Amino acid sequence: MSGNVVVSEGKSVGKSVQEMSMDGDEPPPQFVVKEHPFGSKQCNSSSESIHIPIIDVSLLLSSEQELLQLRSALASSGCFQAVGHGMSSSFLEKVREVAKQFFALPVEEKQKYARAVNESEGYGNDRIVSEKQVLDWCYRLTLRVFPEHKRRLAFWPENPADFRETLEEFSIKTKAMMDQLLRSMARSLNVEENSFLKQFGGDSAMMQARFNFYPPCSRPDMVLGVKPHTDRSGITALLQDAQVEGLQVLIHDTWINVPAIPDALVVNLGDQMQIMSNGIFKSPMHRVITNREKLRMSVAMFNEPDAEAEVGPVEALINGTRPRMYRNVKNYGVINYQCYQEGKVALETVRVAHN
Ligand code: OGA
Ligand code: NI
Repeated sequence: MSGNVVVSEGKSVGKSVQEMSMDGDEPPPQFVVKEHPFGSKQCNSSSESIHIPIIDVSLLLSSEQELLQLRSALASSGCFQAVGHGMSSSFLEKVREVAKQFFALPVEEKQKYARAVNESEGYGNDRIVSEKQVLDWCYRLTLRVFPEHKRRLAFWPENPADFRETLEEFSIKTKAMMDQLLRSMARSLNVEENSFLKQFGGDSAMMQARFNFYPPCSRPDMVLGVKPHTDRSGITALLQDAQVEGLQVLIHDTWINVPAIPDALVVNLGDQMQIMSNGIFKSPMHRVITNREKLRMSVAMFNEPDAEAEVGPVEALINGTRPRMYRNVKNYGVINYQCYQEGKVALETVRVAHN
């Protein structure tokens, strides 16, 4: 753990990202992205032919066509923009607003919720796991929202005053949408509709909220807001900034911009759904780029199976032409985290070899 220059906002040996952002500094070496193991560094947004599909969640129960769209989106890119999810524009704006108000607080106020060095919950920068690690140009506030008895309210901002109730409402609504999506995903593959959902462990399923803040950077070509990764979750829903773009998904070796659609939630699958679907659905590689002028924010909601639950490919999706692709796993979060530290692709370590 030596060589950590930026430990957390305000409490750092060097300048914080926020200070560097405001002063227009060139990013220091530990933030500079040197290698690009996944796809080219430049975004190939000239490939106009690839779009992130838009799915109307309210149609999934009645429209066979919408269900087919869902299936094809998840089998090809593993992500889509969800509309018709029942959350109003004003409510989504409210979620963005409380997040921005929190981030605008003085550093000392935010430090009250600072993440401890070896923990994931709280406010701060990247958790530093190796000296070679390239740091993300961002701040995060990570909070566990479900199961409810595992909430650590000490990390839940009291300022702005409606932060907690807004997050509570957003969590309940997002969870309801995800549960419906998980049933639709099963139906789209003609398997029993609870095949995926039941593997999350019912009331023990875990949901984490991550508020991401990406300050402007004088050299967006040198850094990333978030390095390329796949989510360890089962399913992730992301409320993007209403105006400022930055999220890119790797599709057919090309980084595709995910447009900002103010009323939509970006849904992407995580590794555990790739496992449960026996590889039919994809957990997409994604990253975030920064820009010179504007702060970007996003709120990611990660829904993942209870760490104690055994997760594996749905039996009905294993057959002669599609043999079992992954072994059953428990506590995939730990596998994913260890692999991240060792620079390995987590899904590859749970793959079943067929000769
Ligand atoms: C994440 C993530 C994307 C974004 O938090 O895992 O991919 O746009 N965030 O903030
Ligand atoms: Ni992600």
